[in-house]
Amino acid sequence: MSDAPIVLRAIEPKGSDLEAEHDLRYRVLREPLGMGRETVAFAFESDCWHLIAERRGVIVGCVLFHPDEPTGGRLLQMAVDATLQGQGVGRLLVQALEARVRAAGFLTIHLHARDTAIGFYERLGYTVEGDPYTEVGLPHHHMRKRWE
Ligand SMILES: CC(C)(COP(=O)(O)OP(=O)(O)OC[C@H]1O[C@@H](n2cnc3c(N)ncnc32)[C@H](O)[C@@H]1OP(=O)(O)O)[C@@H](O)C(=O)NCCC(=O)NCCS
Repeated sequence: MSDAPIVLRAIEPKGSDLEAEHDLRYRVLREPLGMGRETVAFAFESDCWHLIAERRGVIVGCVLFHPDEPTGGRLLQMAVDATLQGQGVGRLLVQALEARVRAAGFLTIHLHARDTAIGFYERLGYTVEGDPYTEVGLPHHHMRKRWE
Protein backbone atom coordinates (compact mmCIF):
# COMPACT_ATOMS: atom_id res chain seq x y z
CA MET A 1 0.00 0.00 0.00
CA SER A 2 1.14 3.60 -0.58
CA ASP A 3 3.17 5.30 2.14
CA ALA A 4 0.43 7.89 2.73
CA PRO A 5 -1.98 6.41 5.28
CA ILE A 6 -5.51 5.37 4.41
CA VAL A 7 -8.00 6.93 6.83
CA LEU A 8 -11.52 5.53 7.19
CA ARG A 9 -14.48 7.55 8.41
CA ALA A 10 -18.25 7.60 8.28
CA ILE A 11 -19.91 10.49 6.46
CA GLU A 12 -23.42 11.90 6.74
CA PRO A 13 -25.71 10.75 3.92
CA LYS A 14 -26.76 14.35 3.28
CA GLY A 15 -23.48 16.01 4.31
CA SER A 16 -20.87 18.03 2.44
CA ASP A 17 -18.72 14.97 1.61
CA LEU A 18 -21.50 13.26 -0.33
CA GLU A 19 -20.72 14.94 -3.65
CA ALA A 20 -17.10 13.74 -3.57
CA GLU A 21 -18.25 10.25 -2.60
CA HIS A 22 -20.68 10.28 -5.54
CA ASP A 23 -17.84 11.39 -7.84
CA LEU A 24 -15.84 8.30 -6.86
CA ARG A 25 -18.86 6.01 -7.23
CA TYR A 26 -19.55 7.47 -10.67
CA ARG A 27 -15.94 7.12 -11.81
CA VAL A 28 -15.52 3.53 -10.57
CA LEU A 29 -18.98 1.99 -10.88
CA ARG A 30 -20.97 3.89 -13.53
CA GLU A 31 -18.76 5.74 -16.03
CA PRO A 32 -16.94 2.56 -17.20
CA LEU A 33 -20.38 1.11 -18.10
CA GLY A 34 -21.33 4.19 -20.14
CA MET A 35 -23.95 5.18 -17.55
CA GLY A 36 -24.70 8.81 -16.66
CA ARG A 37 -23.82 10.69 -13.47
CA GLU A 38 -27.56 10.85 -12.65
CA THR A 39 -27.62 7.07 -12.12
CA VAL A 40 -25.29 7.21 -9.10
CA ALA A 41 -27.76 8.08 -6.34
CA PHE A 42 -30.28 5.56 -4.97
CA ALA A 43 -33.75 6.51 -3.71
CA PHE A 44 -32.85 5.00 -0.31
CA GLU A 45 -29.47 6.75 -0.18
CA SER A 46 -30.22 8.77 2.95
CA ASP A 47 -31.20 5.59 4.83
CA CYS A 48 -27.72 4.13 4.20
CA TRP A 49 -24.57 4.22 6.29
CA HIS A 50 -21.72 5.69 4.23
CA LEU A 51 -18.12 4.75 5.00
CA ILE A 52 -15.25 6.31 3.04
CA ALA A 53 -11.50 5.76 2.75
CA GLU A 54 -9.34 8.86 2.29
CA ARG A 55 -5.72 9.31 1.33
CA ARG A 56 -4.22 12.77 1.76
CA GLY A 57 -7.76 14.07 2.26
CA VAL A 58 -9.02 12.66 -1.07
CA ILE A 59 -11.76 10.01 -1.16
CA VAL A 60 -10.25 6.85 -2.67
CA GLY A 61 -12.79 4.26 -1.56
CA CYS A 62 -16.31 3.86 -0.23
CA VAL A 63 -18.94 1.37 0.78
CA LEU A 64 -22.60 1.74 1.84
CA PHE A 65 -24.84 -0.32 4.11
CA HIS A 66 -28.62 -0.30 3.86
CA PRO A 67 -30.35 -1.92 6.86
CA ASP A 68 -33.14 -3.48 4.81
CA GLU A 69 -33.77 -6.70 6.78
CA PRO A 70 -34.91 -7.20 10.39
CA THR A 71 -31.52 -8.60 11.44
CA GLY A 72 -29.25 -7.38 8.68
CA GLY A 73 -28.80 -5.34 5.57
CA ARG A 74 -27.23 -4.87 2.18
CA LEU A 75 -23.65 -3.84 1.46
CA LEU A 76 -23.55 -1.79 -1.74
CA GLN A 77 -21.60 0.73 -3.82
CA MET A 78 -18.27 -0.89 -2.95
CA ALA A 79 -15.67 1.10 -4.89
CA VAL A 80 -11.93 1.72 -4.77
CA ASP A 81 -10.14 4.24 -7.00
CA ALA A 82 -8.60 2.41 -9.97
CA THR A 83 -5.07 3.54 -9.05
CA LEU A 84 -5.33 1.92 -5.58
CA GLN A 85 -7.17 -1.32 -6.33
CA GLY A 86 -5.49 -4.51 -5.14
CA GLN A 87 -3.73 -2.77 -2.25
CA GLY A 88 -6.04 -3.70 0.62
CA VAL A 89 -8.35 -0.65 0.66
CA GLY A 90 -11.46 -2.69 -0.17
CA ARG A 91 -10.68 -5.18 2.58
CA LEU A 92 -10.21 -2.33 5.11
CA LEU A 93 -13.57 -0.82 4.17
CA VAL A 94 -15.52 -4.08 4.36
CA GLN A 95 -13.94 -5.10 7.67
CA ALA A 96 -14.60 -1.66 9.19
CA LEU A 97 -18.19 -1.76 7.94
CA GLU A 98 -18.69 -5.25 9.37
CA ALA A 99 -17.39 -4.11 12.77
CA ARG A 100 -19.98 -1.30 12.81
CA VAL A 101 -22.76 -3.56 11.57
CA ARG A 102 -22.02 -6.19 14.22
CA ALA A 103 -21.67 -3.57 16.98
CA ALA A 104 -25.17 -2.39 16.06
CA GLY A 105 -26.46 -5.93 16.66
CA PHE A 106 -27.02 -7.04 13.07
CA LEU A 107 -26.33 -10.69 12.25
CA THR A 108 -26.01 -10.79 8.49
CA ILE A 109 -24.90 -8.79 5.43
CA HIS A 110 -26.08 -9.54 1.90
CA LEU A 111 -24.95 -7.99 -1.35
CA HIS A 112 -25.28 -8.01 -5.14
CA ALA A 113 -21.85 -9.04 -6.42
CA ARG A 114 -20.67 -8.43 -9.93
CA ASP A 115 -19.26 -11.76 -11.03
CA THR A 116 -15.86 -10.08 -11.47
CA ALA A 117 -15.86 -9.20 -7.73
CA ILE A 118 -17.06 -12.56 -6.33
CA GLY A 119 -13.49 -13.62 -5.49
CA PHE A 120 -12.97 -10.44 -3.47
CA TYR A 121 -16.06 -11.07 -1.33
CA GLU A 122 -15.22 -14.77 -0.96
CA ARG A 123 -11.87 -13.72 0.53
CA LEU A 124 -13.85 -11.82 3.13
CA GLY A 125 -16.11 -14.75 4.06
CA TYR A 126 -19.14 -14.15 1.83
CA THR A 127 -20.77 -17.02 -0.05
CA VAL A 128 -22.80 -17.10 -3.24
CA GLU A 129 -26.56 -17.72 -2.92
CA GLY A 130 -28.99 -18.55 -5.70
CA ASP A 131 -28.96 -18.15 -9.44
CA PRO A 132 -27.12 -15.61 -11.59
CA TYR A 133 -28.93 -12.46 -12.72
CA THR A 134 -28.15 -9.28 -14.62
CA GLU A 135 -27.83 -5.84 -13.05
CA VAL A 136 -26.47 -2.67 -14.71
CA GLY A 137 -25.99 -4.94 -17.74
CA LEU A 138 -23.49 -7.18 -15.91
CA PRO A 139 -23.73 -10.76 -14.60
CA HIS A 140 -24.28 -10.80 -10.83
CA HIS A 141 -24.84 -13.22 -7.95
CA HIS A 142 -26.32 -12.64 -4.52
CA MET A 143 -23.82 -13.20 -1.71
CA ARG A 144 -24.22 -13.27 2.05
CA LYS A 145 -22.26 -13.52 5.30
CA ARG A 146 -23.81 -14.47 8.65
CA TRP A 147 -22.63 -14.30 12.24
CA GLU A 148 -23.94 -16.37 15.15
C1 LIG B 1 -13.63 -5.04 -6.11
C2 LIG B 1 -12.90 -3.97 -5.29
C3 LIG B 1 -13.91 -3.21 -4.43
C4 LIG B 1 -11.87 -4.66 -4.37
O1 LIG B 1 -11.18 -3.70 -3.59
P1 LIG B 1 -9.57 -3.73 -3.57
O2 LIG B 1 -9.09 -2.66 -2.68
O3 LIG B 1 -9.10 -3.71 -4.99
O4 LIG B 1 -9.31 -5.18 -2.95
P2 LIG B 1 -8.24 -5.61 -1.83
O5 LIG B 1 -6.90 -5.17 -2.30
O6 LIG B 1 -8.68 -5.13 -0.50
O7 LIG B 1 -8.33 -7.19 -1.96
C5 LIG B 1 -8.57 -8.05 -0.85
C6 LIG B 1 -8.35 -9.48 -1.33
O8 LIG B 1 -9.29 -9.77 -2.39
C7 LIG B 1 -8.59 -10.08 -3.59
N1 LIG B 1 -9.30 -9.44 -4.69
C8 LIG B 1 -9.47 -8.12 -4.90
N2 LIG B 1 -10.23 -7.90 -5.99
C9 LIG B 1 -10.54 -9.13 -6.47
C10 LIG B 1 -11.30 -9.57 -7.58
N3 LIG B 1 -11.92 -8.69 -8.40
N4 LIG B 1 -11.41 -10.90 -7.78
C11 LIG B 1 -10.81 -11.79 -6.97
N5 LIG B 1 -10.08 -11.42 -5.88
C12 LIG B 1 -9.95 -10.10 -5.65
C13 LIG B 1 -7.20 -9.50 -3.43
O9 LIG B 1 -6.25 -10.19 -4.22
C14 LIG B 1 -6.98 -9.70 -1.95
O10 LIG B 1 -6.63 -11.06 -1.71
P3 LIG B 1 -5.65 -11.57 -0.54
O11 LIG B 1 -6.57 -12.07 0.53
O12 LIG B 1 -4.84 -12.61 -1.16
O13 LIG B 1 -4.84 -10.38 -0.08
C15 LIG B 1 -12.15 -2.96 -6.19
O14 LIG B 1 -11.18 -3.65 -6.96
C16 LIG B 1 -13.05 -2.17 -7.11
O15 LIG B 1 -13.49 -1.07 -6.76
N6 LIG B 1 -13.34 -2.72 -8.31
C17 LIG B 1 -14.19 -2.02 -9.28
C18 LIG B 1 -15.62 -1.84 -8.77
C19 LIG B 1 -16.28 -3.12 -8.34
O16 LIG B 1 -16.20 -4.14 -9.02
N7 LIG B 1 -16.96 -3.04 -7.18
C20 LIG B 1 -17.69 -4.16 -6.64
C21 LIG B 1 -19.05 -4.18 -7.23
S1 LIG B 1 -20.00 -5.57 -6.63
